[in-house]
Amino acid sequence: MARAVLLFLLFLLPLLSYHLTAAVTASGSGGPTDGLLRGNEKERLTRLRFYWHDTSAGPNPSAVLVAQSATKSASSFGTVKVMDDPLTVGPNRSSLLVGKSQGIYVSADKDTSGLLMAMTFSFVVGKYNGSTLAVVGRNEVKTHTREMAITGGTGLLRFATGYVQARTYSFDPTIGYTIVEYSCYFVTSPLKLTVPEYSHFI
Ligand SMILES: *[C@@H]1O[C@H](CO)[C@@H](O)[C@H](O)[C@H]1NC(C)=O
Ligand SMILES: *[C@@H]1O[C@H](CO)[C@@H](O)[C@H](O)[C@H]1NC(C)=O
Repeated sequence: MARAVLLFLLFLLPLLSYHLTAAVTASGSGGPTDGLLRGNEKERLTRLRFYWHDTSAGPNPSAVLVAQSATKSASSFGTVKVMDDPLTVGPNRSSLLVGKSQGIYVSADKDTSGLLMAMTFSFVVGKYNGSTLAVVGRNEVKTHTREMAITGGTGLLRFATGYVQARTYSFDPTIGYTIVEYSCYFVTSPLKLTVPEYSHFI
């Protein structure tokens, strides 16, 4: 009965609304990768959530400073850090490691704490083990929800396109430890792709 109601709602409501996605995910029919049919396209919206742990101080930092401007500023404009941050299934650092976030973040805003993020989410468990997502965009760290683009993927996530929403879960300035919740929303190719012959340049 609950399933029939859900199906009915599926066809009535705007298919990509956040609330509906949440309802479908909450129905428990398949966990965090539940998708939706969008119109007539057999394109699934995939939703993944995990927690990003960034430590910039202490004996074993996951993010290191590699360059900075000679000119000091409140927004640290010009600072470049390289990260290899663990991604876990829950906010607790001891929860299951699902992947790594590897890349750089650059303080690219002269006025506020605005970063350019360029990173690869590289997954190590389950069906996405060995697959990656490429994420790039502006991250104004003091705002509640930041959005960045998913520009591509590899493995099972080839042709991924979508966005991530980042929300700070906790920040401990004494040890420079930030936990950020990342929610990823993306589609991959609806096509059954066969590898073609090489194209000719001329
Ligand atoms: C994190 O998990 C560990 C091991 O399960 C537990 O001992 C610890 O209390 C948890 N920390 C928090 C903040 O929940
Ligand atoms: C992920 O894939 C690697 C390489 O194929 C394999 O060694 C590893 O055991 C896999 N991990 C899990 C949790 O399945």
